[in-house]
Amino acid sequence: MKNYIKANEWNIIEEGFDPHLNKISESIFSIGNGRMGQRANFEETFSGETLQGNYIAGVYYPDKTRVGWWKNGYPEYFAKVLNAANWIGLKIKIDHEILDLNTCTVTHFKRVLNMQEGYLERSFIAKLTSGKQLQVHAKRFYSIVDDEAGALQYSIKALNFAGTIQITSFTDGDIQNQDANYDEKFWNEVSGAVSDNIAFLTLQTKKTFFEVCTATQVFIQKNNKPVAIKPASTHREKFVSHLAVTDVVAGDSIVLHKYAVQVSSENHPKDKLQHISEQLLHKIVAKGFNNMLEEQAAAWAAKWETSDIVIKGDVKAQQAIRFNIFQLNQTYTGKDARLNIGPKGFTGEKYGGSTYWDTEAYCVPFYLSTSAQEVTRNLLIYRYKQLDKAIENAQKLGFTDGAALFPMVTMNGEECHNEWEITFEEIHRNGAIAYAIYNYIRYTGDADYLAEYGLEVLIGIARFWKQRVNWSAAKNAYVMLGVTGPNEYENNINNNWYTNTIATWCLKYAIEAATYVKDNQPHVYQKLVQKLQLDEFAEFSSWNAIVKGMYYPASTELGVFLQQDGYLDKEQTLVSELASEHLPLNQKWSWDRILRSCFIKQADVLQGLYFFEDDYDKDTLRRNFDFYEPRTVHESSLSPCIHSILAARLGNQERAYQFYLRTARLDLDDYNNDTEDGLHITSMAGTWMSVVEGFAGMRVRDNQLKFSPFLPDSWESFSFTINFRVYVLNIKIGHEQIIISNKSAEAITIKVFDKDYTIAAETVIYIVHKEKIVNIVA
Ligand code: BGC
Repeated sequence: MKNYIKANEWNIIEEGFDPHLNKISESIFSIGNGRMGQRANFEETFSGETLQGNYIAGVYYPDKTRVGWWKNGYPEYFAKVLNAANWIGLKIKIDHEILDLNTCTVTHFKRVLNMQEGYLERSFIAKLTSGKQLQVHAKRFYSIVDDEAGALQYSIKALNFAGTIQITSFTDGDIQNQDANYDEKFWNEVSGAVSDNIAFLTLQTKKTFFEVCTATQVFIQKNNKPVAIKPASTHREKFVSHLAVTDVVAGDSIVLHKYAVQVSSENHPKDKLQHISEQLLHKIVAKGFNNMLEEQAAAWAAKWETSDIVIKGDVKAQQAIRFNIFQLNQTYTGKDARLNIGPKGFTGEKYGGSTYWDTEAYCVPFYLSTSAQEVTRNLLIYRYKQLDKAIENAQKLGFTDGAALFPMVTMNGEECHNEWEITFEEIHRNGAIAYAIYNYIRYTGDADYLAEYGLEVLIGIARFWKQRVNWSAAKNAYVMLGVTGPNEYENNINNNWYTNTIATWCLKYAIEAATYVKDNQPHVYQKLVQKLQLDEFAEFSSWNAIVKGMYYPASTELGVFLQQDGYLDKEQTLVSELASEHLPLNQKWSWDRILRSCFIKQADVLQGLYFFEDDYDKDTLRRNFDFYEPRTVHESSLSPCIHSILAARLGNQERAYQFYLRTARLDLDDYNNDTEDGLHITSMAGTWMSVVEGFAGMRVRDNQLKFSPFLPDSWESFSFTINFRVYVLNIKIGHEQIIISNKSAEAITIKVFDKDYTIAAETVIYIVHKEKIVNIVA
């Protein structure tokens, strides 16, 4: 765990330069705009430890799978989010010395991520070996207004010397993914061109043939007067550059502006990429750096308006929650249904930008409440568009008749996870995809989604579960064998309670959804029946039989559901009994020892109780929580948030807060020692859930919003804004009162602690929650 980020409500601040922390900071200070993103690499040369990273959404490489023993059904490749051309490059030479923070003395170093306005800033003073000193100030951002563009400003002041400064501004496409399986480079050059102060570099990915054109335009001024720039004579493959040379004396200032666009064949015809990038470049250059930045601040202000959480009385908690929200908004904007949210977003390579069940299980609630409805709808449509591939995927594994198995990891709908336990067995992901449809409709009321897209997906998923279970004569029940639940510290287990539970839920929901569409849109329904060759009677009866006859492992003695058959055969030890040198298990123990132990990586039974809490009474929730949490090592970043919400539900506010702390500053404090690989983007949505679903106890039930809030002792208050259908509400929880503002044009009735309150349009109500007395103030 680290503790070097300075507390501040709106900014992430690093002061003083420690090269050992650089890779962690490169992740933390990442910038992005939903279409592109990059790590906070330095613009100038850096010969120290760095993970260079600039990523473009949807542009990936199918890296051939590396496994020891090939088995039928293995995915051919693991999709890598591609490290794309690095356009920020500046090589700065002062007489004969290169500016490199690894080799000079650095003072006054400060790096700031301004989350309110959406930019990254860095300043420092560098003393070169010769004793020459310069002061640098750099600012850059990826525009969320022009989402194929970015810009940077880089100022250098000569502090104590006279000499010559050479600046080479470049775009380097000769880069490699550090996680490449065969050390292969993934890009080929299509073309490169440099003229005046503009450079183009078009690269094509091997195998997938995506093309990306990176165009930059550079302007340099010395003491407010233009400095001549010319194409540099070096001609390297996949590399374009410009050169400017100027003499300086002490006190002179050089200011460079570099505008960049990266346009891809995902969005434009290949033969027009250069032309389109040129037009876009013109557009942003005409706006200018400061105007672009002003637009950026205004666009971020609009995002904060609907997604901010304000915490009073705890600056570190405030900073943390904003950081999580900021990074989620940098990763996914919901404009494009082909894109999704990778566990590391655009901040690193491991897990890359591929889609996991994380999206449906964790991210959907965040986007539902903080963004327009289309944003989540697009996340659902992403899976709808991949339904054919999910059916193919299931066929490869021997399933038939339209059964769909969505992949555990994917870029384009094909499975690309290369561990068999996950690919073949972690099939609960299908359940989360169905649950997200249900969650979306429950929240938005957009039941038409079922007829248009949802039902088809639900039927494919139901057909899969139908074929995946089998009848056990011994148990006189349906069983599901050979699965891996959310707890990946168990493989190939039988009757994972969570998977069995979500499977039968899917079957029930598919029938309910079909009935709804049949009643409300009979024409659409008939078309679907034909398209899917749905034999309503036979199929629904067989699904119902499974719903009625499924086996759920449980211990009557302990009064808990069992994670799987035989779970109690394991030696029952608690995490608190483990000496600290054993943790984290995934680094300290052999895999087989982990598999044999009772220790749990992340919420498994408890994940099911989180999804379906209304189906169980509080005592059941409590008994299971008290049994499973002490056996959980929380070695997935997705774990603490679910525990926080359940602890809140059980009225254990202290524990809810402790779990929240574990998720909120996971990356800022490098809690798991892995932030250098990239940020835990999808778990950030879990942090938001811990506050809104945990502390505020928000639920949507029977088309109504419900709250049962509490305030962590160390906070003065917290407040958040949510979109709910046609309403915008701001909810503020203080020690004594709850203040709810209805910012919409219609009255709304909500429940607080199970009591109805109607709030007129544009009105605020105050609820004195200790006594649960209400005052309504117009
Ligand atoms: C977790 C999975 C998750 C994946 C990507 C793994 O460590 O166990 O549940 O989908 O990370 O975040």
